Amino acid sequence: IEMIDPVRYISNQSSGKQGYEIASQLSLNGAKVTLISGPTNLTAPSNIKLVKIKSAKEMYKQVQKISNIDYGFFTAAVSDFKNKKIITKKIKKNDNYNLDLVKNIDILKKIGNDKKRKPKVLIGFAAETGNVDLARKKLIEKNCDIIVYNKIDEYNKVFGSDFNKITLVTKTNTKEIKKMTKVNCAKKIIEYIYNYQLINE
Ligand code: CTP
Repeated sequence: IEMIDPVRYISNQSSGKQGYEIASQLSLNGAKVTLISGPTNLTAPSNIKLVKIKSAKEMYKQVQKISNIDYGFFTAAVSDFKNKKIITKKIKKNDNYNLDLVKNIDILKKIGNDKKRKPKVLIGFAAETGNVDLARKKLIEKNCDIIVYNKIDEYNKVFGSDFNKITLVTKTNTKEIKKMTKVNCAKKIIEYIYNYQLINE
């Protein structure tokens, strides 16, 4: 979330559920997991390190603190824009005020293109109303190994839902998965990465 004034903020509909399920499944598989999370109503899985943040800037700061990562999952729906200046006093309805939005830092792109900090396997996510080519474009731009593509439409109302319909995308491969629970999507993603590594090692 990006604060506008002490009571208002910019955010989006993402619940964080898919990210929390991935963290949970990784932990159940024996991984040492750090979950850097924006505000949610979810209970964090046990046996993981939870780091709570609010803004993109705070998330980036925490991501930078971790080095030698085997797997980086960038599930967060980071706000693409923020207000240029956070107003310190509540904006009153009779104030004549316009938002002055500026672009936010793209955390995944920064990390993907940083040789020193890039995890061994980098997994990005792409929420699109358009087709899978847009996800592959993000894979290249952000230098990811795998992109998890979510088509946002009437059939896949992903926000807040316990279900998801994902497609796993690499440079050369596209694997469509049928609609299933976010828990099972997390398992599919982990299984796919395991096989991806066997092929690419
Ligand atoms: N991401 C990020 N920092 C941002 C925006 C996105 O790290 N400021 C990451 C997300 O965590 C995700 C990937 O980039 O893994 C794609 O996010 P998405 O919202 O689908 O796309 P954007 O890059 O924001 O592009 P657009 O909104 O134009 O589709």
